Amino acid sequence: MKIAVLPGDGIGPEIVAQAAKVLEVLRRDGLKIELEYAHLGGAGYDAAGDPFPPATEKLAHAADAVLLGAVGGYQYDTLPRPLRPEQGLLRIRKGLGLFANLRPALVYPELVNASSLKPELVSGLDIMILRELTGDIYFGQPRGIRTLDNGERQGFDTMYYSESEIRRVAHAGFRIALNRGKKLCSVDKANVLDTSMFWREIVTEVAQEYPAVELSHMYVDNAAMQLVRAPKQFDVILTGNIFGDILSDEASMLTGSIGMLPSASLDANNKGLYEPCHGSAPDIAGKDIANPLATILSAAMMMRYTFAREDIAQRIEAAVRKTLQQGLRTGDIAEAGMRKIGCAAMGDAVVAAL
Ligand code: IPM
Ligand code: MG
Repeated sequence: MKIAVLPGDGIGPEIVAQAAKVLEVLRRDGLKIELEYAHLGGAGYDAAGDPFPPATEKLAHAADAVLLGAVGGYQYDTLPRPLRPEQGLLRIRKGLGLFANLRPALVYPELVNASSLKPELVSGLDIMILRELTGDIYFGQPRGIRTLDNGERQGFDTMYYSESEIRRVAHAGFRIALNRGKKLCSVDKANVLDTSMFWREIVTEVAQEYPAVELSHMYVDNAAMQLVRAPKQFDVILTGNIFGDILSDEASMLTGSIGMLPSASLDANNKGLYEPCHGSAPDIAGKDIANPLATILSAAMMMRYTFAREDIAQRIEAAVRKTLQQGLRTGDIAEAGMRKIGCAAMGDAVVAAL
């Protein structure tokens, strides 16, 4: 198991260090895990003047899987766009062909009260958001800021999806649904966007190959509302890059904290990049208060999807559950009156439970 580890920026190094502790335990238990570190994002810019340095690119291509912390920081916000940390993230996703981004929103019984919704709305919630990750308005050309004939300046981006891009992510969505509740809701904006009309047409076509899965379609504005009105109606949500970006942040709050949400970004052969859904949180970096569980749960997803070790994935997830059952909480998931522990202590607790 050759794993490229990219801690990135902000709280990235702290949370990745906790996931690395977990992997280290598994290595001592006999798994052939090799970790190799490289820079991405602002760390790449600082080390090599590039948010996705060639050395990182080489390592990422050679590895079986990539474990990523987070990228971004205030000090990089004024750099020209190609040098910004986020570009490193977008380039590694695109460069590795990681089109299928799985973002599970799972409510742990211990954390129902940490959710911003009433407990009865979220208890038992288990949604899988499948976000297309390498197309859409994120990557469409042309884009930029131009000056019109009348002298006015204009910002513009291009949204498109080609048939093969929709088809492959739709297949991934239906396969995931088959292994879960057999319901797939495709989210688009087909009442306004041609791209979405086409998306809906192709998803409907692909659905014919999966008669066991119940397909529904929903406009993205309605989906945003339904997620806070009655989130348990969803099983798998399939959507494009930008809608998935937004809806997955929204879904994270249902679970109590974005600090609990792992993700997997897979290519056609289940090579994957695993990262927490949250960002680099520069305001709390270096304070040992970040929640490392999303990153540790991302390592569990790596075992499940890239290495096909469901047993180990479940072992890591059970260890996380156990620490929650013990009442251990970082600040973001602590209820009033609960003792809070730091990032490293949480990592140690998961290791002990493991
Ligand atoms: C995410 C993030 C990224 C995205 C940013 C940091 C480029 O918000 O992974 O959801 O928009 O995809
Ligand atoms: Mg996002």
